Amino acid sequence: MAEKATITLGEKSIELPVITGTENEKAIDISKLRGQTGIVTFDEGYKNTGCTVSNITFLDGEQGILRYRGYSIEDLAEKATFTEVSYLLLYGELPTATQLKDFEGQLTQHTLVHENLMKVFEVFPTGSHPMGQLMTLISALSSFYPESLNPNKSPEQLNLTIIRLLAKMPTICAMIQKKGKGHPVLYPQNRFDYVSNFLYMTFGNVTDEYKPDPVVVDAMNKLLILHADHEQNCSTSTVRIVGSSHANLYASIGAGVAALWGPRHGGANQEVLEMLEHIRDIDKGDVKKVVAEAKDKKRLLFGFGHRVYKNFDPRAKIIKVACDNVLAKLGVNDPLLAIAKELEEAALTDPYFVERKLYPNVDFYSGIIYKALGFPTPMFTVLFALGRLPGWISQWKELREKNEDIGRPRQIYNGYTHRPFVSIKNRK
Ligand code: ACO
Repeated sequence: MAEKATITLGEKSIELPVITGTENEKAIDISKLRGQTGIVTFDEGYKNTGCTVSNITFLDGEQGILRYRGYSIEDLAEKATFTEVSYLLLYGELPTATQLKDFEGQLTQHTLVHENLMKVFEVFPTGSHPMGQLMTLISALSSFYPESLNPNKSPEQLNLTIIRLLAKMPTICAMIQKKGKGHPVLYPQNRFDYVSNFLYMTFGNVTDEYKPDPVVVDAMNKLLILHADHEQNCSTSTVRIVGSSHANLYASIGAGVAALWGPRHGGANQEVLEMLEHIRDIDKGDVKKVVAEAKDKKRLLFGFGHRVYKNFDPRAKIIKVACDNVLAKLGVNDPLLAIAKELEEAALTDPYFVERKLYPNVDFYSGIIYKALGFPTPMFTVLFALGRLPGWISQWKELREKNEDIGRPRQIYNGYTHRPFVSIKNRK
């Protein structure tokens, strides 16, 4: 018999269906609650609210499990490339060799951006933040592809819009870094794979031949895979809610970039590196003092804590190992890594962090690798966005395919009740 939950309000009791997912997660379906009782549920910050039934990503925050389409993040980070993972997220299955070749071929065909898109850079003041630029440039794609404005047009058109965005994203991200340095932009090269092309456009130079370093390509693939999806986080929920109004893909993803930028979300990777530098330069490496101040709520330990993980973030575990490997292979000796490890140790053995189940998250070590690879700190969250793009798109695509209702939460109004209008001459 189907499971039900009973809610009693005063004299009245109603039964609500319980839905169960394939990993035995359960939710009380309250969609008819207001209609039957006149009341709504209340859950600020959506800590306890399921907003969709999704087939894409499974996350168990208590046990530290993350899987895309059933495949563990550990396997994918070790054995797959970012384009394979993008295909998996978008289309539901790992690609065969032929499917992957075709997918990568399509991406290669759409890497160039309209020349006029580059003119947008002329209006950004020097030093403007890369995430603000990224948000603008992605949203601007909707002006260059007016046929993308109606996401209901046809599945073929939708797929072309998706391919265009995935293909142009590395070009746009690399352009942001090049323009920030005042260097000439490099056009994509069809001889490179997705990740190598991004590295070429970012670190190559018009004056020299560029040979991608396999260590760097491998590290970049891993980092992008680890960021590729994370179910209903703040930016993905933003993408979904914007998409639920049938806004086009570029507008929806532009909104996701805005949400990711915040320091409580993806912006934390930039904050972590700046925090570690501050500990080195201003706190003179006194990690105990930093932990004490975090406990007194005088500062936040960026890269620690997560809404869902109350155990090790599995991505942080992989990145920590990768960080040691990449720095060793590149021959980089960064004192910030030692500070990060000391800080992690100090926090993980402190009752404040233990009781609150605050563990390092994905952002804690990623910045140290990005720095070793040569990315400037303000670019870190752009790299997060580059990785998260296939996840955002897959979630948006799923929402469109299911034709989900428009996202429109309720509220409890707690302002003035009705009061008479006071004309301006009588106002005090
Ligand atoms: N440093 C110190 N104390 C912390 C931290 C931290 N990083 N994170 C949480 N706490 C404390 C809170 O002050 C609170 O303490 P209290 O019980 O005494 O009031 C308790 O731990 C619970 O924290 P909440 O803020 O209620 O947890 P929530 O789930 O709302 O927030 C969040 C999660 C936003 C990630 C938070 O841990 C945080 O701000 N961390 C730092 C920023 C960061 O690294 N963000 C990246 C997250 S991963 C990602 O988005 C990709």
